[in-house]
Amino acid sequence: MPNWLKDAVFYEIYPQTFKDTNCDGIGDLNGIIEKLDYIKDLGCNALWINPCYDSPFKDAGYDVRDYKKVAPRYGTNEDLYRLFGEAHNRGIHVLLDLVPGHTSEEHAWFQESKKAEKNEYSDRYVWTNCWIQGVAGHPYIGGEAERDGCYMLNFFKCQPALNYGFLNRTESWQLAPDDPACIATREALKDVMRFWLDRGCDGFRVDMADSLVKEDDENKSATGAIWKNIREMLDKDYPEAALVSEWSNPHQSLKSGFHADFYLDHHGNGYNTLIRDNETPGGDHSFLKKDGNGDIMRFLLDYLPKYDNTHKDGYISFITCNHDTPRARRTLDYDELKIAWALFLTLPGVPFIYYGDEIGMRYLDIPTKEGGYTRTGSRTPMQWDSSKNHGFSDADPDILYLPQDPSEDAPTVEAQEKDPASLLNVTKELIALRHKYTDLQADGSFDVIYAEKEQFPFIYKRGNLLIAINPSDSKASAALTEEAYIDKDDKKSTKLTPVYSIGEFKQEDNTLKLQAQSFVVLSLV
Ligand code: NOJ
Repeated sequence: MPNWLKDAVFYEIYPQTFKDTNCDGIGDLNGIIEKLDYIKDLGCNALWINPCYDSPFKDAGYDVRDYKKVAPRYGTNEDLYRLFGEAHNRGIHVLLDLVPGHTSEEHAWFQESKKAEKNEYSDRYVWTNCWIQGVAGHPYIGGEAERDGCYMLNFFKCQPALNYGFLNRTESWQLAPDDPACIATREALKDVMRFWLDRGCDGFRVDMADSLVKEDDENKSATGAIWKNIREMLDKDYPEAALVSEWSNPHQSLKSGFHADFYLDHHGNGYNTLIRDNETPGGDHSFLKKDGNGDIMRFLLDYLPKYDNTHKDGYISFITCNHDTPRARRTLDYDELKIAWALFLTLPGVPFIYYGDEIGMRYLDIPTKEGGYTRTGSRTPMQWDSSKNHGFSDADPDILYLPQDPSEDAPTVEAQEKDPASLLNVTKELIALRHKYTDLQADGSFDVIYAEKEQFPFIYKRGNLLIAINPSDSKASAALTEEAYIDKDDKKSTKLTPVYSIGEFKQEDNTLKLQAQSFVVLSLV
């Protein structure tokens, strides 16, 4: 386990829309370098940058044309090497986005693979052996290649599936995962990883990490075996490199060698019930919505088994949002967001903040761009200040990659920096708190102290810190049990000392009374 992950607080950057320095209306690597001091000041000490490789951008860069080349619209490879160096100078680690399951249809491997003559890349992708034979149960394309066969898709039409084999084979064209061609695909992926790791990259966020071997068993054992093999390479040659999966199944991912796995927003899962439970008939019952009448048990019943079974293997990553998910500001106001970030930044594992969430940027209802569809509204340009294009770019507003929040009260970094009670400043305080107390970091213990169905508050213990949260719009109180006072050394504490709070609270005898929308951290020692 890379040591630096224990205290990592990540910041996810969508390079298209973070900061444009060459006035073409689209963000670039030099823009990220320019803003590293801002990221450091926020308290984040790690970055995840969405794909910045050469691509036709039919899926915003998740359709990679050349894994080893920075897309010219973002700069050059040298700019990225410089970014690694500048980030490291500030104590910031950098993860790139690795897309192992598919490439762009324009990738050189695929151009070779399409050819009728057999060559080194013929089996690099999943092909059937006849132009009229499809891939049962999976999307595929026929009629486009000289080669007599159809190819399988991994996501959009532009993303042919790389071939890591089929575990359960029913057709002659399906290769076994240990076929030399499938091993060659895995080795090619390792070569890409080595390329960036050798140049200063600190690891990868892995796209659709569970999508490698097809017709895998329900435990994804064959896909897991590939990641274990890759982890062996990292442990041997790059022990400080981190692997974070887009898998959202820690039982599988963390046991397959990933250091951390995202807890993604899937309708009805524990994370979803905390902040985005707005598709349920009868209204939004998110726990963190002040009038949602939420239920912390819906979260805990999903999260606790995951945490209990995997916290010795790796970390579950809470996210404020990501480039595929509606921004939380769509349904939560600033006060609700403060409590939400307070929860995510005091839970175990490795947290991720999506750019702009620290100021509560809005989700915009705008037309699709580069395959974004409903995701596009979460990908708009960062709002830095009150100057032209909110300081994102000096370009003509008409050529910006995406439009910006047109509201008079569009949040900006500049305005929130001046307001001590702003979401930005509260987020900074929360991140600083996490860095200050190892108990709050990835490995600190987690024990539920008070959680009752459809009741507030929620109280939990992280090491020697007792944390209480009342996101509701009414007062809430709870009697503290014996367990609440037992510190890490099994000693009973006599006094709880407040170390941080949002809103008012009172401690009377053994009862903790919290005002509406409040959050408090108390120390047992
Ligand atoms: C997941 C990525 O997060 C998403 O943005 C992308 O469209 C798909 N994988 C396909 O790579």
